[in-house]
Amino acid sequence: MSVISNHTNNMKMVDKQLISVVIILLCCVHFHVQSSHDVEDGISRSQFPEGFLFGTSSSSYQIEGAPFEDGKGLSNWDVFSHTPGKINNDENGDIADDHYHRYLEDIELMSSLGVNVYRFSISWSRILPRGIYGDINPRGIMIYNKIIDNLLLRGIEPFVTIHHSDLPHELEERYGGWISPLIQVKYWTTINEPNLVVESAYMRGIHPPGHCSPPFGNCYTGNSDVEPLIAMHNMLLSHAKAVKLYRKHFQAKQGGSIGIVAHAFMYEPLRDEECDRQAVNRTLAFGLPWVIDPLVFGEYPAEMHSILGSQLPRFSLRENNLIKGSLDFIGINHYGTLYAKDCSLSACPFGADHPISGFVETTGTRDGIPIGDQTGMLELFVVPKGMEKIVDYIKIRYHNMPVYITENGYSSPLKADVTMHDLLQDFKRIDYHKAYLAALLRAIRKGADVRGYMIWSLLDNFEWTHGYETRFGLYYVDRHTLERIPKLSVQWFSSFLNNTGHTNKRENLGEQHLGSKNVRNVGFNFI
Ligand code: BGC
Repeated sequence: MSVISNHTNNMKMVDKQLISVVIILLCCVHFHVQSSHDVEDGISRSQFPEGFLFGTSSSSYQIEGAPFEDGKGLSNWDVFSHTPGKINNDENGDIADDHYHRYLEDIELMSSLGVNVYRFSISWSRILPRGIYGDINPRGIMIYNKIIDNLLLRGIEPFVTIHHSDLPHELEERYGGWISPLIQVKYWTTINEPNLVVESAYMRGIHPPGHCSPPFGNCYTGNSDVEPLIAMHNMLLSHAKAVKLYRKHFQAKQGGSIGIVAHAFMYEPLRDEECDRQAVNRTLAFGLPWVIDPLVFGEYPAEMHSILGSQLPRFSLRENNLIKGSLDFIGINHYGTLYAKDCSLSACPFGADHPISGFVETTGTRDGIPIGDQTGMLELFVVPKGMEKIVDYIKIRYHNMPVYITENGYSSPLKADVTMHDLLQDFKRIDYHKAYLAALLRAIRKGADVRGYMIWSLLDNFEWTHGYETRFGLYYVDRHTLERIPKLSVQWFSSFLNNTGHTNKRENLGEQHLGSKNVRNVGFNFI
């Protein structure tokens, strides 16, 4: 039974609003207490509450390929990634992981891992090739129905995001994307990381439509101090309208729930000073609560009000009613922790001393020493404790609302002389997940209502402006053949999921058998 359907005319408007997010409601369970010492090595699925969702996470543009197939329209990322100089090595998602043609194989991979959830996104331009114009493309609906049906057949719950960065190009052209209030009208979805989208697209200008102003960056147009606030406002209102529709027409029938996904770094004070401790509080509030506070309480965070005052867009009374409570759960993408430094008393670079940044500069190093192991994505550092802290923070701020960890992942360090062997023997990824899961378990044992954990990502994929160099996958994807080759972390995750436990310890994880074709030196520009 699919969550997306092809209805008759009188349902057309509703039909345009794709139904998202089917989630099993979980029971509260009792679990035993174990000392935190051996938690990491002994970490296993059985320690998590019964029915906890474990899976992997992905997004349409990053894995599907097939940009012109079966009536799909152009998306903003199709256009942006083909603009010379925008993406590392001028790569693009035209092929990506070819998931569009290989989804059955990929579902088999997930099934053999033993996951019970898969988070993916629906490409808007496959379903509505011209955004809100033109007709619904039934072939676009069909592919997601097939994916969903095949997941359900294997006992894997689909966890669907409808907007994960890719937007029909026509909406970008007509409105400038999320900058226009018109975009709210027909947009019904949960959205991936509005806070990161507005920062990348309208503050730093490094994602489409590439708007920004100095000192944040040099773009052909934009206003980094103002546009992120407007875009966020429109995204939140769009979310609330989608939720209203979903609740009215589908929720009771499906017994599902609907949420939104925010990106959530954790922060530590750069210096042992009160001003930096305050900076931590501010930058936290300018992150996830910028998205979640309005949806739970109907207002932007007090910390933002006190700095931005009347610059913050206002919700009318009607909008306030619409938006408040428009959330069944919070999805968080948590990868790492950074230091926060106060910029209210001193000047800071790249706009960190502007109100929109909360007068905070964030950095991964203190006196040249990284806060944790630096990963292939240079702004991400491994600090497992950050997972526990951010979940504690959300528990307190939102009165223990249900949370799903919708993304957590590790990108292998970028080294010029990296070999295929290094990439496949990904002990660091395994250590990362074990330590982050142990930190999550500590937060759950203190009472946090966390219901699922999804690894970013099943496959190495198109990593936005980084192209294919940055690899988060449990499976290595050969850029020539698109073959999926399991990294050691597949063995670990599968053993974790199936509670076989013995491969949890590093010494028990055998060397991968690498066929000769796999054992070759690969530079990072090997496609
Ligand atoms: C995004 C993904 C991205 C991942 C790794 C997340 O913030 O949702 O699309 O690939 O980070 O950078």
